[in-house]
Amino acid sequence: MTIEPITTITNDQLDQLATLLHACVHTGASVSFVLPFEHEDAKQWWLTKVAPQITQGNRILIAATQNHQIAGAVQLLLDTPPNQPHRADVAKLLVHPDARRQGIARSLMLELEQQATNHNRTLLTLDTVTGSHAQALYEDLGYHQAGIIPGYALNSTSTSFEPTTILYKHLGS
Ligand SMILES: CC(C)(COP(=O)(O)OP(=O)(O)OC[C@H]1O[C@@H](n2cnc3c(N)ncnc32)[C@H](O)[C@@H]1OP(=O)(O)O)[C@@H](O)C(=O)NCCC(=O)NCCS
Repeated sequence: MTIEPITTITNDQLDQLATLLHACVHTGASVSFVLPFEHEDAKQWWLTKVAPQITQGNRILIAATQNHQIAGAVQLLLDTPPNQPHRADVAKLLVHPDARRQGIARSLMLELEQQATNHNRTLLTLDTVTGSHAQALYEDLGYHQAGIIPGYALNSTSTSFEPTTILYKHLGS
C-alpha cells in the first residue's frame, strides 16, 4: 500500500475517487451527501470542488493505493483566514468498505499530520458524527473534543438529523 499526496488528479484516479466516495455514501457514511447519489455526482464533486483547490494549493489530497486502486483518501484544507495561519481543517476521511480495519485511515491521518507540519500548520480541526468509528480513531490519535452540536446534519438516507462532535489537535504538543 502507498500513502501519498495526489497533486494532479488523472482520469483513472478521478474514477477511483468517485467509486470510493460513492461506496462510502451508499454504505451509510455521513460525509455531506444524501441518497440518491450517483457515481457521476461523486465524480463531479472531485472534479469541480476538489481538483481546482488542489491546483490552487488550498487543499492537499492524500490517497491510499492498494493493488493499483485508491482504497482511501483524506484531505487537508489550508484555505484558512489570515488570522489563522497556523490552523487547517481535516476533511473527508474515506476508506472503501472492502478495505476497512486494515489501518488505512490511521495511516492516512499520520501522513496528513506530516503534511500539516510541512505546511507550518500546528492546529488541526474537524467534525465527525458523534459516536462514529471515525471519532474513536481521532480520539485515539490524540484529538480532543471541543463540543457537540445536536441536529447538525442529515444522515445519508435523509431520515434523521445527527449530532456532530468538533475535535481539535495541537501538533507537537
Ligand atoms: C471511519 C473510517 C475512515 C475508518 O477507516 P479504517 O481504515 O477502517 O480505520 P482503521 O483500520 O485505520 O482503524 C483505526 C481505528 O478506528 C476505529 N475503528 C475503525 N473502524 C471501526 C469499527 N468498525 N468498529 C470500531 N472501531 C473502529 C478503531 O479505533 C480503529 O483502531 P483499532 O483498529 O486499533 O481498533 C471508515 O470506516 C470510513 O471510511 N467510514 C465512512 C466514512 C466516514 O465516516 N468518514 C469519517 C468522516 S469524519
